[in-house]
Amino acid sequence: MSVDAIDVIRAKRDGVELTPEQIRWVIRSYTDGTIPDEQVSALLMAVFFRGMTPAELTAWTRAMIDSGVRKDLSPLGRPTADKHSTGGVGDKITLPLAPLVAACGVAVPQLSGRGLGHTGGTLDKLEAIPGWRADVGEADYLRQLREVGAVVCAAGNDLAPADKKLYALRDVTGTVESIPLIASSIMSKKIAEGADALVLDVKTGSGAFMKDVDSSRELARTMVGLGEAAGVRTVALVTAMDRPLGRAAGNAVEVAESVEVLAGGGPADVVELTLALAREMLATAGRDDVDPAEALRDGRAMDVWRRMIAAQGGDPDAPLPTPAERHVVTAPATGTLTRLDAYALGVAAWRLGAGRSRKEDPVSGAAGVVWTAGVGEQVTAGQPLLELHTDDADRIPRALEALEGAVGVDTGDEPLPLVLDRITA
Ligand code: URA
Repeated sequence: MSVDAIDVIRAKRDGVELTPEQIRWVIRSYTDGTIPDEQVSALLMAVFFRGMTPAELTAWTRAMIDSGVRKDLSPLGRPTADKHSTGGVGDKITLPLAPLVAACGVAVPQLSGRGLGHTGGTLDKLEAIPGWRADVGEADYLRQLREVGAVVCAAGNDLAPADKKLYALRDVTGTVESIPLIASSIMSKKIAEGADALVLDVKTGSGAFMKDVDSSRELARTMVGLGEAAGVRTVALVTAMDRPLGRAAGNAVEVAESVEVLAGGGPADVVELTLALAREMLATAGRDDVDPAEALRDGRAMDVWRRMIAAQGGDPDAPLPTPAERHVVTAPATGTLTRLDAYALGVAAWRLGAGRSRKEDPVSGAAGVVWTAGVGEQVTAGQPLLELHTDDADRIPRALEALEGAVGVDTGDEPLPLVLDRITA
């Protein structure tokens, strides 16, 4: 059958359902360079306004998966589970979670990305550990999964290559914020990764992609449907991102906080979310008989962390980078801290050097923000509340600008509960 790009664009523009053949042809032809950016841009904009039917979305996601390889992890002979977060500020949960779940007998193959904009990237955080490498070859990847049980590394170019091109095009055509395009982008990569089970952490609030709970629920439902349709047992939690997670946003500062959690301490919200996601991963992978809290308490998770870091060249005992400059922001009043805006803190950490604006920019391992009190806690006027870390003092004024209005004491703001919803098929 011959397909014409203009017919496909017109059909979508006019609300006519695309056939699986048309969708497969578009994804294949765009990936191999046969159809140009301008035609796919028009199609993406039509999808942005018209959405996709469930059949279109399934075919679109399938075609994106088929643009690369779908890994087969069955030779490991062990259940596998992965987690994906839609991204937030201070979201270091992968760092304690992957070794924790591995310590409970479920292997965790976690192909991660770098940060862009105000949300941090897992690989950027781990690269703050001296010697740690994000690039792991296929043979080493499988060996580490077998021997250590967890690997967090960069995704290769063979995983859903259609997404690389489509995501870059969406980024410059104002078509990122579309539920079917986000869901197919995330799920094509996650399904191709080959895990038996997948747990999604869909963030909601100012620091998240989706600012309101209803859109987050819809994104969660869409992704769970795609995972299940592809034979991957999938569950989603919708969790709060109106304030940042834990007490640190940045790179080395988030590694340090993760190590505290693995040592049995750490902020209560990070521990709560790590355990909630670990329980979901274990249950979805068929191991609901294991209690992850026990593996955190008795040091088994810390042991896997150390082996996981060392396997990728990192020294788990090496001192983490420290900033050349620190700047303290004090609490504006005495009372209950009712607002600590996630987006503002994320932008501040980014401006201090923890994140990048373009994907080729370097990041600073030492940059970030730490805070001494979380939402709901008492603060006293003048007490140190935020500490800004940077290698470059010239970055501090712009970070302070981002923080204007970010902190509120006794404002009456009602923080969201940490876990707002659980979505299953
Ligand atoms: N993350 C992705 O991988 N894709 C999107 O479209 C949005 C977030």
